[in-house]
Amino acid sequence: MKPLFITFEGGDGAGKSLQILRFKEYLETLNHKVVLTREPGSTEVGKEIRKILVEGDKDKIDETTELLLFYADRRINLTKVILPALSEGKTVISDRYNDSTIAYQYYGSNKFNDTSLMDNLYQIVAEGKKPDITFLLDVDVKIGLERSFNKAKTEQTKELRFENVDISFHERLRNGYLEIAKKEPQRFCIIDANKTIDEVSLEIIEKFNQKIKEL
Ligand code: TMP
Repeated sequence: MKPLFITFEGGDGAGKSLQILRFKEYLETLNHKVVLTREPGSTEVGKEIRKILVEGDKDKIDETTELLLFYADRRINLTKVILPALSEGKTVISDRYNDSTIAYQYYGSNKFNDTSLMDNLYQIVAEGKKPDITFLLDVDVKIGLERSFNKAKTEQTKELRFENVDISFHERLRNGYLEIAKKEPQRFCIIDANKTIDEVSLEIIEKFNQKIKEL
């Protein structure tokens, strides 16, 4: 099996974590050796960066600091997890990668006029390393946020820094994701994540099997 670099993207509460676990099991039935990773927070150092980024108030750090921390975390994920695993012939699934930054920090936030800073950082940090396939789990903003707040309550996490931003931010980033996907249809599979968990899992597998023929 050719090792693949696969990413899952989507707004908060899209259901990525569970779908990733299910999709990993599916890939293993196809004899892929699968490594799971996430951004932010792939390694011990990454987890420290994650804490800064996802806990507390939105304005505790400004947008530029936030952006640089996401890229620092991406560098760690790429050099310590993604590239080593691919070179060992393993398939990597990353829960978020560069599209998250374009969706959240560019489309969601109103701080940056264009993506040139992000594009430059992406080249420096990741040498433009692109996923082979990206699943965009597209979910209605209100449904997604409700799921996120419920999950945070059940799991007693404080990871609500982005969820607490106003709803228009989440609408912008959802539309942003769809724009990004439209620009690269060969890489993206858009999944309707408003459906039931089983329906979403099935759609992921079906779209994966179509996409793999095109690679
Ligand atoms: P998670 O809850 O899906 O693990 O993601 C953590 C939060 O960080 C989520 O609200 C999205 C946000 N995020 C960005 O704003 N930019 C990024 O580049 C990444 C990777 C995540």
